[in-house]
Amino acid sequence: MKKIVGKYLGTIVILGTLLVAYDLKTNMQMLNTDLQVVQQGFITSNKKGVADAIERLAKHTQELLGNKEKFEKMLPKNKKEKANEAVMSAQIIAHNIQIIRDAIVNKYNQSETIRREEAQRAYTYIEHACFRCHNIVRDVN
Ligand code: HEC
Repeated sequence: MKKIVGKYLGTIVILGTLLVAYDLKTNMQMLNTDLQVVQQGFITSNKKGVADAIERLAKHTQELLGNKEKFEKMLPKNKKEKANEAVMSAQIIAHNIQIIRDAIVNKYNQSETIRREEAQRAYTYIEHACFRCHNIVRDVN
């Protein structure tokens, strides 16, 4: 009886771990899709496209990376300390999303050219935040 219960528990733990891994993967793929749409918006100078996609990215980043405890649960055992990194990356992304929003509504009364360039640069900083965390997570040394 004990053996059977142990087996069941083991299976449940494995399934749970797989589900969490699946969750992280799907969430990351969602971020990736959001970022690609933002990129397309900039490349084709589609202001409305950027504005819409940036709001989706903001929402999904906050949901996934803004909560340290939640992200910690999603990370592999030997990467738990990366949860702090997640929160920092979320802040970097949020900061640059705000720069793009301000540029769109012309908060600082700047020329179209300057606003476009600042928003484009902020986009590359967001991408950089993704790379930064992936390098840490994937670094095997
Ligand atoms: C705080 C860390 C962190 C940040 C920031 C981060 N990721 Fe990830 N990402 C991970 C982890 C952990 C995995 C899963 C392990 C792996 O793929 O190496 C992952 C995996 C992925 C994957 C692969 C999913 C699959 O199919 O296996 C994609 C795509 C991805 N991230 C996109 C992004 C994008 C786009 C951003 C920025 C908007 C981003 N990530 C920001 C930690 C992060």
